[in-house]
Amino acid sequence: MNIRTYNKIAPEGLKLLREGYEVSDKTEDPNGIILRSHELTESELPESLQVVSRAGIGVNNIPVAKCTERGIAVFNTPGANSNAVKELVICGLLLASRKVLEASQWLEWVAEENDLQTRIENSKKNYTGHEIKGKTVGVIGMGNIGIEVANALNGLGMKVIGYNRTLKPELRETLNDNIQLTSDLNEVYTNSDYITLHIPLTESTRNFINADAINKMKENVLILNFARGELVNENDIRDALSNSRIACYVTDFPTKNLIGLRNFIGLPHLGASTYEAEENCAIMAANNLRNYLEEGITINTVNLPAFAKKMDREYRICLISKTELLSQINELNLKDVDITSLEKNGIFYTVIDTDNEDEINTINDIKGVIRIRTLVK
Ligand code: MLT
Repeated sequence: MNIRTYNKIAPEGLKLLREGYEVSDKTEDPNGIILRSHELTESELPESLQVVSRAGIGVNNIPVAKCTERGIAVFNTPGANSNAVKELVICGLLLASRKVLEASQWLEWVAEENDLQTRIENSKKNYTGHEIKGKTVGVIGMGNIGIEVANALNGLGMKVIGYNRTLKPELRETLNDNIQLTSDLNEVYTNSDYITLHIPLTESTRNFINADAINKMKENVLILNFARGELVNENDIRDALSNSRIACYVTDFPTKNLIGLRNFIGLPHLGASTYEAEENCAIMAANNLRNYLEEGITINTVNLPAFAKKMDREYRICLISKTELLSQINELNLKDVDITSLEKNGIFYTVIDTDNEDEINTINDIKGVIRIRTLVK
């Protein structure tokens, strides 16, 4: 199998793709792609491609709809970098609350002064900050990262309001008891001293934070965005900073028009840039890709239904379609087969397990299939 990498993928993950895999950053006809933040274009989806595996959570750099149309599975790595992002969010929140960056920069300017110690003691009043204990933070988006952030900030003594329209039951169980959950954004806007964003970027969340939203927020709110830049309307946040409507905007996604503004703190997309997270993501991305190519398993796909069953028969035929195929399959009167048919968002994933090689040709004749793959144990 040919695997194409884009970006630097941690060796711990690539190590999992040794036997039976050729991994390169050049191959023109890959069966699989592993990438980090590379903006994948439609022209980089050749006929040979079966799977795109992102070492990270956001998939906005992948043309997911086009992949689905061509029967290409897209995976991400939920949870693998949550701790890294959480730690940087806490760092951003403290940087913004305690004027750490300004104070440290001022020190560099006065470092050569003879009366340095006196100047330090006289000037520290300029850098008085706020404690976060007892303040309210609104966490918008309670997925893997949002929940970790909410629990950690609660542990630091903050009141937490978590916003999500729906919360996965398995994630709810991991949430600290005293975290308040709401599906009403106004509750977050009107009560929060800090607001931190942890939602994916989609067409419906682009410009999620705009002038309207900012107008509903408390005066002097601090906004943190370690999710995606386009969630926040650039002009509106720029205005809010310029007229001091908000106290600070901290983001991992700075732009030319924001860098240098007073009370703007930008970082160069460092959220997942820890050795630990890079390793976790690369391992999970490589496993996602292998499990799909070798056994058709779709746990962690974003565009197919989730199918987790290990292969226990000689052959597995995996079919991706936009229509339900079961009635057609039943008419074939296949012998000695196990059939699973799943649907998610109008996409069907049908898996037929068999030891009977003769059935494979019959299955190949099924109509209305976007992609069919026959896997051999
Ligand atoms: C993510 O979506 O998880 C991050 O953007 C990952 C990264 O920094 O590569």
